[in-house]
Amino acid sequence: MEFSGQKSTITPEGVFIIGTYDESGVPNAMNAAWGMQSDMGEITLMLGKHKTTENFE
Ligand SMILES: Cc1cc2nc3c(=O)[nH]c(=O)nc-3n(C[C@H](O)[C@H](O)[C@H](O)COP(=O)(O)O)c2cc1C
Repeated sequence: MEFSGQKSTITPEGVFIIGTYDESGVPNAMNAAWGMQSDMGEITLMLGKHKTTENFE
């Protein structure tokens, strides 16, 4: 298989909506398309740094 080096996308993709609360109980939600089922009862999400990730640090 040859890769051209151009950016690639796979569509259609599902989108996860991740809901969190901060330390004051303020709710927040974000979209995450880069995720998958990686085992029974387990998902893997590829996340950059966001308010959402700060909330569950
Ligand atoms: C359709 C869609 C899919 C996205 N998927 C991801 C993702 O998989 N990982 C990620 O880090 N950000 C992803 N983003 C970007 C975050 O959703 C976006 O930066 C969001 O504002 C973060 O929210 P927060 O800062 O309130 O936590 C996606 C955005 C959109 C619109």
